[in-house]
Amino acid sequence: METLKDRIAIVTGASSGIGEATARRFAQEGATVVALARREERLMHLSEECPSVEPFPCDVSDHAGLERCVQQTIERHSKIDILVNNAGFSYYERCEESTLEHWRETMAVNLEAMYVLARLIVTHMITRRYGRIVNVSSIQSLAADATVGAYAATKGGINAWSRCLAVDLAEHNILVNVVAPGCVHTEMSFVNGADETQSEHFQEWYVRQRKIPLARPGSAEEVANAILFLSGDQCTYITGQVLVVDGGLTITF
Ligand SMILES: NC(=O)c1ccc[n+]([C@@H]2O[C@H](COP(=O)([O-])OP(=O)(O)OC[C@H]3O[C@@H](n4cnc5c(N)ncnc54)[C@H](OP(=O)(O)O)[C@@H]3O)[C@@H](O)[C@H]2O)c1
Repeated sequence: METLKDRIAIVTGASSGIGEATARRFAQEGATVVALARREERLMHLSEECPSVEPFPCDVSDHAGLERCVQQTIERHSKIDILVNNAGFSYYERCEESTLEHWRETMAVNLEAMYVLARLIVTHMITRRYGRIVNVSSIQSLAADATVGAYAATKGGINAWSRCLAVDLAEHNILVNVVAPGCVHTEMSFVNGADETQSEHFQEWYVRQRKIPLARPGSAEEVANAILFLSGDQCTYITGQVLVVDGGLTITF
């Protein structure tokens, strides 16, 4: 059975990693997926493999572009059922090396764009009295690490804002939740060209000493499955929650 049959979804950051896996999973489940990211060739490739994926090349910090995306989707499909706000990135720099410019860019891409896109879409969801919004934060929203201050601030902001959005929209039958991934093997695992999950530190601490109880990094598909559940009709009484998908990493100390 296709659990998202006839649903129309917008997924940001769909050109790689968790967003791409989510777009593929949604398409398998019968949804039409508007896939938004900057790398057009990656989106075209995805669309060739999954014909119900519609590429929309756009930078999420381009608000006029986000508006065009929503307008085009409504013109083509008359509705938007699901929004997955997933696009995100990080600079890796300690506070004393960091710049206000990088702070603002991180806010604009990781947090502000989520608000702008949700603001554009909720009016359409309210009209139809149906909606599922899943915002992707991170375990960095729950615990601290060096060099990712701006990123962690955006991810904590996503959790707090999503809870408020869930309260605002509950009366309209729109459910809002957060998925907070741990260490997931995607392009984001590569820091300065090196795969962090293959480093000696990662293998010793997270794998052999089982700081991650499941003793491995997660896959994009495993996160996509959590996003799928929160985006579907099986999810009817969960809103304003942060679902941590981290192999148990944050339950250990
Ligand atoms: N991997 C992890 O361990 C991990 C852990 C916790 C949270 N997360 C979160 O999961 C989400 C997805 O990351 P990922 O792991 O799948 O990494 P990824 O493979 O690097 O994917 C990031 C996606 O965001 C898009 N993106 C970045 N900046 C953008 C912009 N300005 N405009 C439009 N799209 C933009 C990228 O597409 P383009 O470059 O084509 O624009 C790409 O599709 C992020 O929010 C990340 O913070 C990841």
